[in-house]
Amino acid sequence: MINDLWYKNAIIYCLHVGTYMDANGDGVGDFQGLLRRLDYLHGLGVTAIWLMPFQTSPNRDDGYDVADYYNVDPRYGTLGDFVEFTHGARQRGIRVLIDLVVNHTSNEHAWFKEARKDPQSKYRDWYIWSKKKPPNANKGMVFPGVQKTTWTYDSVAKEYYFHRFYDFQPDLNTSNPLVQAEILKIMGFWIQLGVSGFRMDAVPFVIGTKGAKVKTPHEQYDMLRTFREFLQWREGDAIILAEANVLPDTDMHYFGDDGERMQMMFNFQVNQHLFYALASSDTRPLIKSLRATKPRPATAQWGLFLRNHDELDLGRLTDKERQVVFDAFGPDKDMQLYDRGIRRRLAPMLAGDRRRIELAYSLMFTLPGTPVIRYGDELGMGDDLKLPERNCARTPMQWSNEPHGGFTKSDKPIMPVISHGPYGYEHTNAAIQRRHDESMLNWTERVIRMRKEVPEIGWGDFEILRLRDPAILAIRYDWRNNSVVILHNLDANAREITFDVGLENEGGRVLINLLSEDHSEAQSNGKHKLVIEGYGYRWYRAGGLDYLLRRSEA
Ligand code: GLC
Repeated sequence: MINDLWYKNAIIYCLHVGTYMDANGDGVGDFQGLLRRLDYLHGLGVTAIWLMPFQTSPNRDDGYDVADYYNVDPRYGTLGDFVEFTHGARQRGIRVLIDLVVNHTSNEHAWFKEARKDPQSKYRDWYIWSKKKPPNANKGMVFPGVQKTTWTYDSVAKEYYFHRFYDFQPDLNTSNPLVQAEILKIMGFWIQLGVSGFRMDAVPFVIGTKGAKVKTPHEQYDMLRTFREFLQWREGDAIILAEANVLPDTDMHYFGDDGERMQMMFNFQVNQHLFYALASSDTRPLIKSLRATKPRPATAQWGLFLRNHDELDLGRLTDKERQVVFDAFGPDKDMQLYDRGIRRRLAPMLAGDRRRIELAYSLMFTLPGTPVIRYGDELGMGDDLKLPERNCARTPMQWSNEPHGGFTKSDKPIMPVISHGPYGYEHTNAAIQRRHDESMLNWTERVIRMRKEVPEIGWGDFEILRLRDPAILAIRYDWRNNSVVILHNLDANAREITFDVGLENEGGRVLINLLSEDHSEAQSNGKHKLVIEGYGYRWYRAGGLDYLLRRSEA
């Protein structure tokens, strides 16, 4: 049933149309602008674009409050522009994934308007109602501190409705077969317009039971199979990438034992422990989470990311670990959000230290999974903490040093472009970085290119090499008699390390450095000994016997 496993080794780039490129000068990014930037993305080497919500929406949660699933919000263009864009992407060999936000709608969606108006409406049962305020109404908020309740009284319906997120996002009754059928129809619609799949929003809530009597929701995993099957009947290589911040022991329920559910999931477990490792130079909890998330069907894949459009959620760390990350990367209350995370962009979190930014990216590109880049991170873009909640890390793309970073010709951009200071568009922009060999942009391009030449990471099995030093992470991937060994030093100081590649025969004698001339040859005891600089990283291909032979011939 599976036609192609393209997602196992893709390079995904996530962006919001509204803040990427404005072609018509109204201050809002649009599909025509994005279309003009496809060559930039192609040059960077990305193989898939994940578009954040662009459907018609009152935009009170950046489009995650959809008012019409079958249309493009007029601010971004038309369905015609959308198809031009998917066509342009296809011509360049780039796939398009889009957000599928079906846990809830906007309260301005026609379904909700009908539902609240008329108890007899067929849409009434598309939402979750209660005559009385349920006792757990002040529990389970996703945005604590901002969101006060999960049940809100509706004066038109004269009942309470359930909303896991903000009160303007009423939850759909996803157990209702008619709602499920509509979700399939939405998928079918966009598939027909050229997308290769969906980043499915809030999956545990979509499949969780909902209602006034539900104390602890239980997951209806079968639903995932229904979505997946439908998708593949329509388009064999289309995928779902699930946003599900869950514990490792439930991962297999999401993937399905035989890989019959979600093809991809974001690895939140690794993400949080990765930040802990970056903050503490201690890779042990990260290693534990890599091992815990290792089991997955052969056709499944992790999505690996550093920062996304939301806060860096640290809810799965222990209180002590979380505090270490807060202290290192978000010490001010204003940098933190929802009692569990940090709302900053990557570069300012790492104090703009290029060595650490490269280290973080090198990790993201080489840990088991498919890397997902956030737009602007390839330039080391910053954040604007004056903007509320998560908006601080959603400012427009910085293209050049023209006014508003070349994002728009309008004087009223949808969000202020970051200006002045180290992250201002005057210095941090694509046009300038293109011209400098050593820029973050060119580094990212080179590293993406190398990542594509190391398919072992996406396809292979991995093993963590034993090293006594907790600051060092050493991973070996094996695939079709090829092996790569990737080393990272998470500490600021240089480390001397000794390690065994662990391959039989002569396989690990020579390690060829894929990013520089600095290769490594094992000592007579078979072990490698080398010094790795502070925050250093090494990508090696093992089994360089040919190289040895060539050297002795020369
Ligand atoms: C997901 C999105 C987030 C959004 C929420 C509600 O968590 O990532 O941005 O606010 O769902 O749809």
